[in-house]
Amino acid sequence: MSDPTTIRRLYGRRQGHPLRAGQAALTERLLPLLSVPGDGPLDAPRLFGDDRPLELEIGFGRGEHLAGQAAMRPDHGFIGCEPFLDGVVGLLLHVEAEGLENIRIHRDDALGVLERLPDASLSRAYLLHPDPWPKARHAKRRFMNKGPIDLLAAKLKPGAEFRFGTDHPVYCRWAMMVMGSNPAFDWLASAPDDFLVRPDDWPETRYEAKARAHGHEVWYFRYIRK
Ligand SMILES: C[S@@+](CC[C@H](N)C(=O)[O-])C[C@H]1O[C@@H](n2cnc3c(N)ncnc32)[C@H](O)[C@@H]1O
Repeated sequence: MSDPTTIRRLYGRRQGHPLRAGQAALTERLLPLLSVPGDGPLDAPRLFGDDRPLELEIGFGRGEHLAGQAAMRPDHGFIGCEPFLDGVVGLLLHVEAEGLENIRIHRDDALGVLERLPDASLSRAYLLHPDPWPKARHAKRRFMNKGPIDLLAAKLKPGAEFRFGTDHPVYCRWAMMVMGSNPAFDWLASAPDDFLVRPDDWPETRYEAKARAHGHEVWYFRYIRK
């Protein structure tokens, strides 16, 4: 297995504008209750108090997709990883407004959570509109690289689904190469609509909406862990 630490330096923003008073108060109140413990092994009993199926979203942005999935499957436990504080606030707003009780948050690099989960413990994982790092010399910064994807493969159960979405042609080609050369996954597509049309149970993300507003095509990939 190649080294997942090739992207160990986390690129990108951790904070944007200062939070408004209401956002700061919500974060102070709710984030400590929902945060993934800072060290030690992680599993469903530790995070949710029972043996429920686990799902993970890498870089949930403002959280609309994660909140949508969590609302669809209240008996599953959802781990969301996102270092950007404004994004975390977005998810907290969903948690509060929709009364979601099945979400835990890691405000940092998703690799830090993946490494602490038991092998074959995830029922699903999502990577939606990851930062594209389009220049070839920045390709190692992309989450979609052999090391992180090997680590993800180890943490997914056999038969688990990995969903990946992008509107970025460079990332799309790159991802097809990385995923296509990984023997742990089968691509669930037999016709163009299987990757050109968003499945009904795949809530639209903020970045996807922006991409559509700019007239970009969006590609939806579903892989099964063999
Ligand atoms: C382009 S945004 C997309 C956000 C969201 N998925 C969407 O579609 O609207 C990519 C997000 O991934 C986050 N991110 C980047 N690297 C990450 C990592 N290693 N672990 C977790 N999140 C990461 C960034 O902070 C950013 O919010």
